[in-house]
Amino acid sequence: MFHTPLCDLLSIRYPILQGGMAWIATAELSAAVSAAGGLGILGAGNAPPDYVRDQIQQTRRLTDRPFGVNIPLFSPYVDAVVEVCIEEEVPVVTTGAGNPALIMRPLKEAGIKVVPVVASVALARRVERMGADAIVVEGMESGGHIGDVATLPLIPQVVDAVDIPVIAAGGIGDGRGLVAALALGAAGVQMGTRFICVAECIAHDNYKQALVRAHDRSTMTTGHSIGHPMRALRNPMTRRFQELERGQISEEEIIEFGMGRLRLAVEEGDMTEGSVLAGQICGLIREVLPVQDLITGMVAQAQEAIEQLNALAGQQA
Ligand SMILES: Cc1cc2nc3c(=O)[nH]c(=O)nc-3n(C[C@H](O)[C@H](O)[C@H](O)COP(=O)(O)O)c2cc1C
Repeated sequence: MFHTPLCDLLSIRYPILQGGMAWIATAELSAAVSAAGGLGILGAGNAPPDYVRDQIQQTRRLTDRPFGVNIPLFSPYVDAVVEVCIEEEVPVVTTGAGNPALIMRPLKEAGIKVVPVVASVALARRVERMGADAIVVEGMESGGHIGDVATLPLIPQVVDAVDIPVIAAGGIGDGRGLVAALALGAAGVQMGTRFICVAECIAHDNYKQALVRAHDRSTMTTGHSIGHPMRALRNPMTRRFQELERGQISEEEIIEFGMGRLRLAVEEGDMTEGSVLAGQICGLIREVLPVQDLITGMVAQAQEAIEQLNALAGQQA
C-alpha cells in the first residue's frame, strides 16, 4: 500500500519524508523516521562540516536504513558540507532556500540522489533540467522559509510541468494529507511541523507543547521586507519583527534581529523571544507521539480515507 516510484528511488517503505530542519532534525529524529520506514533527513542548517559529519555517523549507528542530509544554500559551509556528504556516502541530499546549480554536479557524480526543495513551477523545471532525481514542492502553508503559492494549487501545476517524482510539502500532517497529495499527482510527502511533536525530536518541550496548543490561525509570516519570508508561531518576537519591518530599519538590522532566535526556541524553550518556526498544520497536532506510532497511524488513516473514497466512487457508479 502506498508504494510509489519514490519508494524505489529512495529505497524506503512509505513515501513519507521528514523535512531537514535546522537545529531540530538531528540524528535521533532522522534515524527514528528512517527506521520506521520513511526517510529521515538531517538538517545541516548553517552548522560547520564537523558537526554534520558527526550527525551522519550517529545516524548510521542508530539505523541501517537510508537517510538524507538537507543543505540550505545560504549556509556559509555549503561546499564543505557537500564534501562531507560525498565522503560519508550519504544516499540522499535535499537542498533548501535557493538554486542548487553549483552543487548538483559533484553530488550527482558521487552517485548521491539530489532532491531540491522548490516553491514554483519555474524552479521545478530548472532543477529537473539540471538533473534532480526528484523534487520537494513546498507550499506557503509550511513552517520555516516559504514561497508565495499554496500547496493545493502548486502541486498539480508542478506535476504537469515535470517528469521526475514530486514530493508534496506544506500543510501535511496526517493520513488524509498523504492521500490528498497522492490524488494531486505527488509521489510522496514531506512533513516538517508534524515531526517536531514526536518523542525522538530534541526540540524543547515548551516548543512541542506550544504546537499542541496552537490552532489554525496561530502562525504568521515575517521577513517579507528582506525577500526571505518565513512562517512561525505568533508571539511577542514575531509581532516586534513585524513592527520593525514597517519602520525605517535597514536590512542588516532586521537580519541581526532574527539571528539565533530559532536556536533560542529549540534549545532553551524560549517561546517569547525565540523564533518558533511552524506551519499552519500545527492546529491539527494534538499530541506528542513516538515516530513509529505517528507513521503507522498515518498509513492506517490514509488507507481508511481511500476506502471512504472508493465507497463514494462505488456509489456514483
Ligand atoms: C522548524 C523548522 C525548520 C526548518 N528548517 C529547514 C531547513 O533548514 N532547510 C529546509 O530546506 N527546510 C526547512 N524547513 C522546512 C521543512 O523541511 C519542510 O519542508 C516543511 O516544514 C514542510 O511543511 P510543514 O511544516 O507544513 O510540514 C523547516 C521547517 C520548520 C518547521
